[in-house]
Amino acid sequence: MSQPLVLGFETSCDETGIGLVRGQTLLSDALATSMAEHERFGGVVPEIASRAHLEAMVPTVHRSLADAGVTLRDVDAIAVTAGPGLTGALLVGVAAAKAYALALDVPLYGVNHLAAHVAVDELEHGRLAEPAIALLVSGGHSSLLLVPDLAQDVQELGRTIDDAAGEAFDKVARVLDLPFPGGPPIDRAAREGDPRAIAFPRGLTGPRDATYDFSFSGLKTAVARWVEGRQRAGEPVSVADVSASFQEAVVDVLTAKAVRACRDHGVDHLVIGGGVAANSRLRALAQERCDAAGIVLRTPSPRLCTDNGAMVAALGSRLVEAGVPAAPIDLGADSSMPI
Ligand code: KG4
Ligand code: ZN
Repeated sequence: MSQPLVLGFETSCDETGIGLVRGQTLLSDALATSMAEHERFGGVVPEIASRAHLEAMVPTVHRSLADAGVTLRDVDAIAVTAGPGLTGALLVGVAAAKAYALALDVPLYGVNHLAAHVAVDELEHGRLAEPAIALLVSGGHSSLLLVPDLAQDVQELGRTIDDAAGEAFDKVARVLDLPFPGGPPIDRAAREGDPRAIAFPRGLTGPRDATYDFSFSGLKTAVARWVEGRQRAGEPVSVADVSASFQEAVVDVLTAKAVRACRDHGVDHLVIGGGVAANSRLRALAQERCDAAGIVLRTPSPRLCTDNGAMVAALGSRLVEAGVPAAPIDLGADSSMPI
């Protein structure tokens, strides 16, 4: 018998993602985004995101089915992001997923968004060697996870104590008058700059900071102060140098802590996911440090690093395979769902 066909719903932030996965094979990954509507606010507006999910939901489900060449009747299970994320946005996805599960009489799985960011890598690189360490960096989260078993046992080693890494990129971009979201333009500008031009602080990396937690708010403030200081003095600001130096400070800390987590836990596989994993310097430095430490690095292609429905279907597929009980039909959403 063929493996079950899993339909995944992702609505934790501004992307309405509907994906179809069979086993670990990606069949389709339809996406609608309300990003353009948030741009002028410099960040995602929850109310706008929720309304956009509602409007995009059914057309995106239909697109996902058509892309995969299947019909609703072929679906064997449904998985939905139940948290963490924006409450209103999550609720639209959970309500829709429940309706489809009830109508089709198939099991429903509520999944954790962070674990789904790890699971998506299996669609491109095959089964994850467990235990693994996962570094998840996006606009909403920055977490270091120990993954003994992706379906049933994922532990958080550390997280940001203030801003998420992507949030820092977005805020620094604003200081530099670059568009939102700030990651891609900073990544591009940094290619022309000198990462050693300005010595920005590396949070929580002192000799006594054994923690796996991250802190990016001091760095963001340091960049803003530096830029303001130059502007006040009437001196030019090199967007390329500030971008490169800021970016280096972020990726230096992320990769150092991820590699240390691998070493401390005797783990030789690292997965990096989330929107910031699309960053070219993060990918290059992580590869360099993993090679030096004998760690196998796995990074999904940039398209799958950002939020999408396939990642939810991928984790759902693992849950079905592991025989994890389906969620009750009163499944809710939890904006700060622990891993
Ligand atoms: O995973 P994602 O699509 O959504 C969240 O769950 O937040 O991540 C979006 C974040 C944004 O903060 C964006 O600036 C950042 O990922 N990002 C990047 C890059 N591409 C996207 N950050 C650094 N470099 C990039 N190339
Ligand atoms: Zn995400």
